[in-house]
Amino acid sequence: MNEIKYVDIVFGISWGDEGKGKVTSHLTKKGNYDYVCRWAGGNNAGHTVFLRGKKYKTHLVPSGVFHGIKSIIGPQCVVHPDSLIEELDYLERSGFDRSLVKVSPRAHIVTDKHVNKDKKSLAKKLGTTSKGIAPCYADKMARTGQLAKDVLPPNLLWDEKLTGRILCEGAQGYHLDIDQGNYPYVTSSTTLPYAACSLGFPPQKIRHIWGISKIYDTRSGVDPLFPDDLFEDPDLASLGDLGQEFGVTTGRRRHCNWLNLDMMIEAARQTGTTHLVVNKCDIMRKFGTYKLLHNDELKIFDSYHKMTSFITDQIGKSDSLVKHIYLSSSPEKI
Ligand code: IMP
Ligand code: MG
Repeated sequence: MNEIKYVDIVFGISWGDEGKGKVTSHLTKKGNYDYVCRWAGGNNAGHTVFLRGKKYKTHLVPSGVFHGIKSIIGPQCVVHPDSLIEELDYLERSGFDRSLVKVSPRAHIVTDKHVNKDKKSLAKKLGTTSKGIAPCYADKMARTGQLAKDVLPPNLLWDEKLTGRILCEGAQGYHLDIDQGNYPYVTSSTTLPYAACSLGFPPQKIRHIWGISKIYDTRSGVDPLFPDDLFEDPDLASLGDLGQEFGVTTGRRRHCNWLNLDMMIEAARQTGTTHLVVNKCDIMRKFGTYKLLHNDELKIFDSYHKMTSFITDQIGKSDSLVKHIYLSSSPEKI
């Protein structure tokens, strides 16, 4: 077969940390895909995948590698070579096939200079992950960057055409997008699903767009939309403890807030999301207090069922393309 059959896209509908890795791994293990591809970002991302009760963490490598599927790091990604090798070593030690992972020759290289610049001038001010992301994309745009094809060993480079059944795995989330997010409190790449086309397929090949969210909001890093006052709220603090809301990449405590339903629906509408996954419903249930933000007001529900019915009703009433909603209560499946 020499052509693309269909493309499904998994992306974050919030501020990252929604559980995209879990959904990607869940969809991939059914054997429905020939490739799993990352289209943006670098090792600023952190993906947690649970497989047969064991926890695995990756930063740059797409989650297809956990299921024996070719895993591509696309041309819009940025790659820090030593970190990539470290991750491949880790995967090999854990029993996975590192030769499945390939990097587009056009991906850009993150140098130690980029990392140092990020640490020195951006990390405090913007709460970046200090992985050199913004300085690397700045060099790319100024056309002074280095391409993967000139730096990485040939056995790591991707020299095939994308064919068959494709799953694209997003990094970060809608509200961290360089164009749609709360600039400058954003990342430096396009996190929206349309950008997956940069991997080399026409938009008409897209079949399903999976938007991933959580039943409460979290934010890693600095953002005036998530002030430090949120840490003082005892309910939100215990929700964060219960949900283990600490960054996979940085270990930082994430700011937690009640789900902003209007922002979620708008992000779903704007991106053409067809399948919406709401993760961590088990945590909300265990927590036993049911609140969300709607029309700038805090709404309180007296049961989990009333809260989730409200969410599904509001999505149904919106003019989004969402056809399926999954309320997920498991770290391994949806
Ligand atoms: P940078 O991508 O390291 O430049 O960080 C820019 C902003 O995006 C910071 O607020 C980070 O905390 C946030 N960010 C970047 N990657 C992730 C992610 O994978 N999950 C959550 N937040 C992220
Ligand atoms: Mg993540």
